Amino acid sequence: MAAKGGLEGITAGDTAICSVEQGALIYRGYEIADLAAHATFEEVAFLLLIGHQPSGDELDQFRAELVAERPIPQQVTDYLRSAGPMLKSGTAVPMDVLRTAVSLLGNLDPQSQDISADANLAKSKRLTAKMPTIIGQMQNVIDGRDLVEPATGGDATLGHAANLLYLMTGQKPSAARTRVMDVSLILYAEHDYNASTFTSRVIAATMSDMHGAVTGAIAALKGSLHGGANEAAMKMLKEVMVYEAEHHEVQGWMDTAFAEKRKLMGFGHRVYKNGDHRAGILHKLGREVAEEVGPEMVRLFDIGEQVQTIMSEQKGIFPNVDYPCGMTYFSMGIPVPQYTSIFVASRITGWCAHVMEQHANNRLIRPIANYIGPNDLTWNG
Ligand code: COA
Repeated sequence: MAAKGGLEGITAGDTAICSVEQGALIYRGYEIADLAAHATFEEVAFLLLIGHQPSGDELDQFRAELVAERPIPQQVTDYLRSAGPMLKSGTAVPMDVLRTAVSLLGNLDPQSQDISADANLAKSKRLTAKMPTIIGQMQNVIDGRDLVEPATGGDATLGHAANLLYLMTGQKPSAARTRVMDVSLILYAEHDYNASTFTSRVIAATMSDMHGAVTGAIAALKGSLHGGANEAAMKMLKEVMVYEAEHHEVQGWMDTAFAEKRKLMGFGHRVYKNGDHRAGILHKLGREVAEEVGPEMVRLFDIGEQVQTIMSEQKGIFPNVDYPCGMTYFSMGIPVPQYTSIFVASRITGWCAHVMEQHANNRLIRPIANYIGPNDLTWNG
């Protein structure tokens, strides 16, 4: 019997990394609301990659390892520079450039072909450390600025979240902005067998390598039904804002969207049919940023909330984490085309944890298809 479309409801394997259920998202035993309130991204990264809450010494060492691994090879910097015209012309978007940069990192990694547990963990740390450097330097290329601290990949006193913002802008972020970014990275870090993670596991299960699995995962995350939804949600909200400026209400825009059976980006979820509780956590923090920035960003959140209310009251469909993420990153002044890349700077930890788990207890992932094509044809008529 064929599985339901999109493998909905199919349990595709075991994992000890994460559990996703309506109202409870657990990373290795810890609920996401607890982690968002009390942990840092580096602690969560350690938890996912190494498997337990770090002690103070373990965390210090892990942070130092990440800082040491931030610089990217000259060949990757050269590639980012060469990608400037492609980004400008639109033949490539940041997620495409990030994907190629990660593939190139693999070509240059002395352990690229070694898929032992030790090598996989070392490569996971390197990839996690270098992701903000690639994203930040890519943004500097886009903005026509000098690269920010290319020799070190940032400021060693800054954590992952603050350094990402620093590399992207050349400005050191406030403690409040840093915390908002940090929480968004915690919320995005892991989500069991989502499309990109499943992609990484399928690749890993052929005994392919870490960089290859992550390269494939980036391609899967890019799509607007998955990680690309945070960019798509913000683009959609810009449309609603233009409409609202003219009509002083949003119901008309929503009526048209419903009539056209349009998918509203940042709404709905395959598992969280009654709402994604990560969304509430990020929405609250994002609104605080908006209030600090000024009336235009508050207006964005006001309009976003109206869309949300109409969608839940009239369709029973709730926002997922990408919806407040779009508004939050926009309020922080982050360029929209980089939102999904920032998602990668977080989800890299989940992907790497899954690749390691797959390699540790591997069986080729190879389902079968239900053939619905013709039979009985002959080549010569
Ligand atoms: N906007 C409008 N309608 C939506 C919707 C959305 N964002 N999400 C789901 N629906 C509707 C579907 O059209 C469908 O209606 P129907 O039964 O009348 O045909 C119903 O809700 C069930 O949706 P379905 O597409 O079967 O759910 P799914 O589990 O396949 O889809 C998503 C999950 C995430 C792909 C889907 O909700 C979506 O496309 N959301 C927008 C993209 C997004 O935000 N992705 C990020 C996910 S974290």
